[in-house]
Amino acid sequence: MSSFYTLVIGASSKIAQAAIQQFEAHPDCLGVFAVSRSLPPETATSKTHWLTGDYTEQAIDKVCKEIAPYAGKITKVLVCNGVLHDDSMMPERKLEDIRASQLEAMLHTNTIIPMLWLSKLLPLLKGEHATQIALFSARIGSISDNKTGGWYSYRASKAALNMLIQTSSIEYARRAKNVKLIAFHPGTTDTPLSKPFQRSVPEGKLFTPEFVASQLLFIMNNVEMNNKAAYLDWNNQPISW
Ligand SMILES: NC(=O)c1ccc[n+]([C@@H]2O[C@H](COP(=O)([O-])OP(=O)(O)OC[C@H]3O[C@@H](n4cnc5c(N)ncnc54)[C@H](OP(=O)(O)O)[C@@H]3O)[C@@H](O)[C@H]2O)c1
Repeated sequence: MSSFYTLVIGASSKIAQAAIQQFEAHPDCLGVFAVSRSLPPETATSKTHWLTGDYTEQAIDKVCKEIAPYAGKITKVLVCNGVLHDDSMMPERKLEDIRASQLEAMLHTNTIIPMLWLSKLLPLLKGEHATQIALFSARIGSISDNKTGGWYSYRASKAALNMLIQTSSIEYARRAKNVKLIAFHPGTTDTPLSKPFQRSVPEGKLFTPEFVASQLLFIMNNVEMNNKAAYLDWNNQPISW
């Protein structure tokens, strides 16, 4: 692999943090652009340029302007943003739990923000180098695999994200042939997002962020560059849309 830059969006995510550390340690990685609402962690090295912003369209435009000098050289992009619960909301178990505010919040963070990046990054990523964008989806976003129901807003936000990835991949295939879009399912990973649900995870099935990040980097380096979106799990296995 020749030298490259990376862009990690939603950089406070525990999986993003692990990926950043692995990129920083990679001899061919010339620099990491990390975008987050939060300030950089103490572990960040001088290889990482930390850009703070709140993911409004204006904030995304500002980041795109800052990284514009690296257009065509950023060949690995992670879009990690995702919310499942917070102080005021937990996944819905039944129809009576549905709240417009929760549906809107999930759709905004899990679907609209990643789509804004897909929209605005195309001119910066198109070029001659093979480039992968991994957008963090979830197996629960698979419409064909929905056997248990529940978790309405999170499920719908990831299913909608998957549709936007598929649809964008058709346009990227025309306008930025060097780019592959990956809807990535990390598996249940030990992060704040999964914390309240970890008790029901079978032994050995709760992954560390470091493991998932190294799996993802392997997948990105080895994925078939065929202008089609892929929906892949942590083990590089396809998930049916
Ligand atoms: N952990 C799991 O078991 C699991 C399973 C399946 C899928 N996933 C997906 O993996 C991705 C990474 O999650 P994680 O497990 O690493 O969780 P995490 O450590 O809790 O990270 C949360 C991520 O979501 C972003 N975020 C949170 N609230 C936001 C808001 N209101 N607006 C914009 N961005 C917001 C954060 O970005 P900032 O840097 O800006 O804070 C950060 O990137 C998510 O998309 C999640 O849905 C995780």
